[in-house]
Amino acid sequence: MAVNLDPIDAETVRKDFPLLTRIVHGRPIVYLDSANTSQKPASVIEAIDDYYRQHNANIHRAVYQLAQEATDLFEGARGRIAAFTGAPVPGTIFTRNATEAINLVAYAWGREHVGPGDAVLITDLEHHSNIVPWQLLCEERGAELRYLSVSGDGTLSLPQLDEELARGNVKLLAFAHVSNVLGTINPVAEMCARARAAGAVSLVDGAQAVPQLPVNVAALGADFYAWTGHKALGPTGIGVLHGRPEILEAMRPFLAGGDMIGSVSHQRSTWNELPWKFEAGTSMIAEAVGLGAAIDYLSSLGMAAVRAHEQSLTERALARLAEVPGLRTFGPSDAPSRGGVISFTLEGMHPHDVAELLNRDNVCVRAGHHCAQPLMTCLGIPATARASFGPYNCADDVDALIAALHGAREVFGL
Ligand SMILES: Cc1ncc(COP(=O)(O)O)c(C=O)c1O
Repeated sequence: MAVNLDPIDAETVRKDFPLLTRIVHGRPIVYLDSANTSQKPASVIEAIDDYYRQHNANIHRAVYQLAQEATDLFEGARGRIAAFTGAPVPGTIFTRNATEAINLVAYAWGREHVGPGDAVLITDLEHHSNIVPWQLLCEERGAELRYLSVSGDGTLSLPQLDEELARGNVKLLAFAHVSNVLGTINPVAEMCARARAAGAVSLVDGAQAVPQLPVNVAALGADFYAWTGHKALGPTGIGVLHGRPEILEAMRPFLAGGDMIGSVSHQRSTWNELPWKFEAGTSMIAEAVGLGAAIDYLSSLGMAAVRAHEQSLTERALARLAEVPGLRTFGPSDAPSRGGVISFTLEGMHPHDVAELLNRDNVCVRAGHHCAQPLMTCLGIPATARASFGPYNCADDVDALIAALHGAREVFGL
């Protein structure tokens, strides 16, 4: 008798996600685009609803009870999020998304520490969010933007990292924890340790990691760790930047205005304590409360269980995709080395046509360059189709993908 080692019962989990109960054209939705944005459990939607119905007031600014409740909800969410990712509370800053978190570092840290002759080192597998801010910084400061190359099996090379760091001018190493195209899980702790030994600061883009892996920022040794709420079952409009408090303390502010100040005189201001020094203006209060509920939900599943579940789906998908003639997958070939995202091309069909035809079967996948155009150039292709998983996906979803791919080939007469 087959033993089910998958720790998550996706059929039960699914019931917590109202959108996944929708019937479109008489059939349920097969949602395979969680790397783009995840679906939201009812508890997240209810936390936001409850905040607006019962507790809405501005935070940090008033003494009446509602304002205290709103502040407690907001700061309570921060505390639980910091515990979830193993980061200190003062080093847990709310931003709008991962993109803003990375830009915060590029502006507030980069402008002070990167100058002519220096280098910022990134990799060929980055999302545009972790490329363009460094392009702007290097252009402005007369520094060089260098890339670690990605091998044919979708991995980075530690010897090449050592060579780059040995040049002696790398001020910052910035790279993705998990690639949003290849699925590669990078050796974060080793890379951060090497950067530190070479006197460089590290920034990890955890947008694809926090939703699906147990992440402990302190154990990884990252100086900065950025992620985004909407991929981690939370609402849009909220992200997180974790930073080492001693580095954040020494930095100039990013955005300026209310809430981030200690005091303001006509000519000068002093800054608020961490983390509020980096949270100018009225914060995304409801969104932070929603993200707190999302983290509670993920914690209740257990991130080790989420990881094991998505790994088993990935394993099944890699095996079954190999059955489809003309289908090519990208990234590491073994599920343990990768996250729950699989990019692929189908010979004779453009990825947009693939996605469009899958849509006719209610199978939602993304097609395009996935905001990773330099990586597409390295792979020598303009685009891929991409299927990605969340804790609510089950083996039937993988099978529906495979059936729809066979159907799409038939439409094209392949
Ligand atoms: C690896 C990676 N980094 C950064 C981002 C940007 O996230 P956001 O648009 O929420 O800032 C994404 C989103 O697709 C991503 O996959």
